[in-house]
Amino acid sequence: MPAPESLLLDSDLSPHPALDAAWWRQAVVYQVYPRSFADSDGDGLGDIPGVTSRVGYLAELGIDAIWLSPFYPSALADGGYDVDDYRDVAPELGTLTDFDALVGAAHAVGIKIIVDIVPNHSSNRHAWFTEALASAPGSAARARYVFRDGTGPDGSLPPSDWTSHFGGPAWTRLVDADGNPEQWYLHLFAPEQPDFDWSNPEVHEEFLTTLRFWADRGVDGYRVDVAHALAKDLSEPLRSKPETPGELPLDGSDPLFDRDEVHEIYAEWRAVFDEYDPPRTAVAEAFSAPERRALYARPTGLGQAFNFDLLKADFDAAQFREVVEFCLAQAATVGSSSTWVLSNHDVVRHASRYGLPAGTDLDDWLLKDGLETLLDEEQGLRRARAAALFMFALPGSAYLYQGEELGLQEVADLPASVLQDPIWLRTLNTKKGRDGARVPLPWTAEGQTYGFGSGASWLPQPAAWSRTAVDRQAGVEGSTLELYRHALRIRHELQTEETLGWVETGRADVVHFVRPNGWHCVTNFGAEPYALPDGVVRVASAPVEGGRLPGESSAWLTA
Ligand code: NOJ
Repeated sequence: MPAPESLLLDSDLSPHPALDAAWWRQAVVYQVYPRSFADSDGDGLGDIPGVTSRVGYLAELGIDAIWLSPFYPSALADGGYDVDDYRDVAPELGTLTDFDALVGAAHAVGIKIIVDIVPNHSSNRHAWFTEALASAPGSAARARYVFRDGTGPDGSLPPSDWTSHFGGPAWTRLVDADGNPEQWYLHLFAPEQPDFDWSNPEVHEEFLTTLRFWADRGVDGYRVDVAHALAKDLSEPLRSKPETPGELPLDGSDPLFDRDEVHEIYAEWRAVFDEYDPPRTAVAEAFSAPERRALYARPTGLGQAFNFDLLKADFDAAQFREVVEFCLAQAATVGSSSTWVLSNHDVVRHASRYGLPAGTDLDDWLLKDGLETLLDEEQGLRRARAAALFMFALPGSAYLYQGEELGLQEVADLPASVLQDPIWLRTLNTKKGRDGARVPLPWTAEGQTYGFGSGASWLPQPAAWSRTAVDRQAGVEGSTLELYRHALRIRHELQTEETLGWVETGRADVVHFVRPNGWHCVTNFGAEPYALPDGVVRVASAPVEGGRLPGESSAWLTA
């Protein structure tokens, strides 16, 4: 077998903590979007007992942890990322007792639980916001959020030009009980998601209490939503956002995002994580200049940060290799491990992305119900399977999104009448949003909702899903589910070190890396078959015949 070209060594890191405490460094984390996973009571919505009922499935899949997207009480203005109460379970999803049962069932089979913490904004039904609305401008109740007088002669213009991620202004004006216009409040997302003011110590205390609440119930870690936006420069006059359509500035000078002070918040959180044994873990969803991402992953902060670089890359050898080199090096600068993501609840599923011509405008593709630009589903799935093996062979943590183990495609043709993502309305129906990735899972080939539950599902499932249902794939050699199961079993055996070396392939469209224990991963991004080096093929995303790796596939080899 060819010798490694180089080894990326993390030699200057402090010794790794005890094995169990460091579980997150190389974990396979499975994201559950609770309302779309499994419905135990037939109301059309997935729920916590539904997740518990499938813990056996997840254990068999071979994951290390479940990340639960928000399951808190919510009016669902943003799919649950509008939280009414951070320390409870939405009644339609279950109870705290159900949650405890899930934690118990998961822990019994060695699966950790990560909950989603949404600290940038609450919902507009949160007790604090209700109190703020009932209180006078300038009151302590209003100081937990960002209320400001309007500008212009009569205050009818918003306090600044900041815009919402979902489209439209980031400010909404209140109207008092007599119908008179009042102050404005800030929401970087939907109007139902008012932003907290993190310069207020009460907000800090509230979230420390929430972190302890879930840690005391046994959760092992947290995924931190919009982690880069908590600290804001709210000094008057409010500054305009700089005209930086690309990356955020490198010096932390943006008024809203990735400010240096945000890390003071996470230092406080770290102190709470370290009150527990083993310490609780966290992963930041932070958007910053790529060079500043690692700041969130410091051991004195959240410890790990998502990078979405692989998710954003085309299925392309040079792009994949570059992403890996950059992300491993970045994570190593702070002693963290890298994360890898191909799909989540916010993006078009990768089995579809990879089946569309590179550069396709995905919003436009969705808007046209997937009809105008033709999706090559077979190619998308072939590439998705290859990318999965590539990702699982990397050092660091892999985050899967529910259904990718089935090779599910995006549901591009959801009719406008069922869309629930606020993006659809806020962009005045010019973007369909993310519902196509959130369609409830198919568990069985038969049945009204393919085994999701006994009632009509909250989003309609495509008929084609009867072919991709879990019971159609389980035990079927070559199915995507069996590929994932097999690969994750081997990964458990081989994922022992945090480094890799690159092996020259002589082909620009073939990437080969090897881990110090002799675990090789070869990915052929091109069309021509590639002659694999000597070794035992442990798993491959497409049949390897005569030692040749077909186009758009990956294989793992050991000696
Ligand atoms: C990121 C979440 O992943 C997304 O679903 C949500 O809309 C925003 N944060 C706002 O909470």
